[in-house]
Amino acid sequence: MEQIDWGGLPFGYFKTDYNVRCYFRNGKWGEIEVTSSEYVQIHIAATCLHYGQEAFEGMKAFRGRDGRIRVFRWEENAKRMQNSCRGIMMAEPPLELFKEAMIRVIKLNEKHIPPPGLGAALYLRPLTIGTGPQVGVKPAVEYMFMIFVGPVGPYFREGFNPVDVQIVRDYDRTAPHGTGHIKVGGNYAASLRPADRAKREGFSTVLFIDAKENKYIDEAGPANFFGIKGNTYVTPDSHTILPSITNKSLRQLAADFGMRVEQRQVPIGELAEFEEVGACGTAAVVSPIKRIVDRETGQVYEYCKDGKAGPVSTKLYKTLKAIQEGEMEDSYGWNLIID
Ligand code: PLP
Ligand code: COI
Repeated sequence: MEQIDWGGLPFGYFKTDYNVRCYFRNGKWGEIEVTSSEYVQIHIAATCLHYGQEAFEGMKAFRGRDGRIRVFRWEENAKRMQNSCRGIMMAEPPLELFKEAMIRVIKLNEKHIPPPGLGAALYLRPLTIGTGPQVGVKPAVEYMFMIFVGPVGPYFREGFNPVDVQIVRDYDRTAPHGTGHIKVGGNYAASLRPADRAKREGFSTVLFIDAKENKYIDEAGPANFFGIKGNTYVTPDSHTILPSITNKSLRQLAADFGMRVEQRQVPIGELAEFEEVGACGTAAVVSPIKRIVDRETGQVYEYCKDGKAGPVSTKLYKTLKAIQEGEMEDSYGWNLIID
């Protein structure tokens, strides 16, 4: 068996033994197929290649100290995948199909689930693509749903150490009435240029601003944004951001800590009023932010003056991780245990 440096894993592709696939043909989903191939063979005119009929998910499975495997809030991801498919006119994988495919691919790749306590997890990447040919701009008639998995470390190489983020105003990841609220590939294509520039300029990711008024915070690259002000957890409410399952969980945890939770428009200027700010998502988990620089105006917002994450972000991070790894009671039934 290969030696894996579980504590030093990057967030990236990792070849495992199997992936699972299912085809939608003649108006119905077929049986789940298991394969070791990392490739898919599709038609040259498949709509995913031409018209962006592609939606994906990101979720994690954890191994606890008790040896058990837990998947975090799978049903939320499965429903969001359905919503994304609906948004770009693709066939929706039924919840039961999603669940069965997920359980099978986790069990088949069990040896690649990282041990607990190292900040690593088995990342699950479900995706649905239009495979049927079209040349006119129309939805496909045939689809393919797949899940591949791989062990990953933190999305930002800083892990839970604070990162620098850049506000961009000259790029929008999505349009006001566009597809920002669903998880489709096109949104990520639109984010590549500003994200690449931000990295070259020394930042971990970008902070997108609302595309309509250019006044409010949308989200932090591949993660939602939150700010802490006194006893309040504040996070943007916007049609152009992805409804993050991590953020939804943190809102619940913050409320359980006795905090006020506000989901509303967050004007850029309010950044000066927060004591702590961070990015949250499946891949990013809770990533504290130490510095936000507005690329256009040069304005700088600074946090974590001692170089460390603030107390609220730390408590949110630790509680979330403890629930996911089975160290703390899962009082909302967020985990599915896979035996
Ligand atoms: N926003 C974007 C654009 C994302 O890609 C993700 C990742 O899925 C998130 C936010 C965080 O969502 P979640 O917490 O459900 O992973
Ligand atoms: C996730 O957090 O799972 C994501 O999908 C974000 C990113 C890697 C696209």
